[in-house]
Amino acid sequence: MKYLITLSFLIVLSSALFAACSKSKSNTSAIKDQLAETNDSLINKKVLIVYLSRTNNTKAVAQIIHKKVGGDMVALELVNPYPQDYKKIVDQVSNENSTGFLPPLKTKIDKISQYDTIFLGFPTWGMQLPPPMKSFLKQYDLSGKTIIPFNTNAGYGIGNTFQTVKETAPKSTVLEGFSTKGGIERDGVMFVMEGNKEREVAVQVETWLRKLKMIP
Ligand SMILES: Cc1cc2nc3c(=O)[nH]c(=O)nc-3n(C[C@H](O)[C@H](O)[C@H](O)COP(=O)(O)O)c2cc1C
Repeated sequence: MKYLITLSFLIVLSSALFAACSKSKSNTSAIKDQLAETNDSLINKKVLIVYLSRTNNTKAVAQIIHKKVGGDMVALELVNPYPQDYKKIVDQVSNENSTGFLPPLKTKIDKISQYDTIFLGFPTWGMQLPPPMKSFLKQYDLSGKTIIPFNTNAGYGIGNTFQTVKETAPKSTVLEGFSTKGGIERDGVMFVMEGNKEREVAVQVETWLRKLKMIP
């Protein structure tokens, strides 16, 4: 009888041990799978974040992305900066958009070929991609790279900005972009990415990056 009790106890104990081991094995392999998936898009790939920002809203989103994915970050600057006056810049941009003028860039990017993934950040200007971003896309060969656009605007949306990125970089893979409401310079509202707004955007950016498998 004593022998039978000991035997049953040993059987129960070894089943419990076996179950625990298989569970931890499946947990480990789930974590490994998740890492492999993330590694593929993040660790093995070099990231560049290029942004254009006049009143720093898009810059703030670029910084949030940078904090989460790392890489190098570059602001686009022009050889001839735009006027400070809002009405003047609106007129100049409208003129550049209708003539197709591409403003020369002061910013030079060293060895763009080293980057696999390029985040492109810009405000909506005249419901279009700002001319300096068009200059950037025309100037650099981004074929074979992954482009991830992000945008801020005054509440009228992305316009045709994301579409223009796709059309101007036809040999790149353009992933789903991120957009949020920024300033309304026309009404004197400049920088808004602080306090609750910044925290909200940080959460939204994290969700978006996770969906794109840029973070685990
Ligand atoms: C020249 C110019 C044109 C703009 N056109 C638009 C527009 O068509 N639609 C819109 O929603 N916001 C428009 N805006 C507002 C900006 O997109 C918005 O303020 C954005 O958050 C600014 O980003 P930044 O702070 O990074 O410069 C315009 C701003 C400027 C300066």
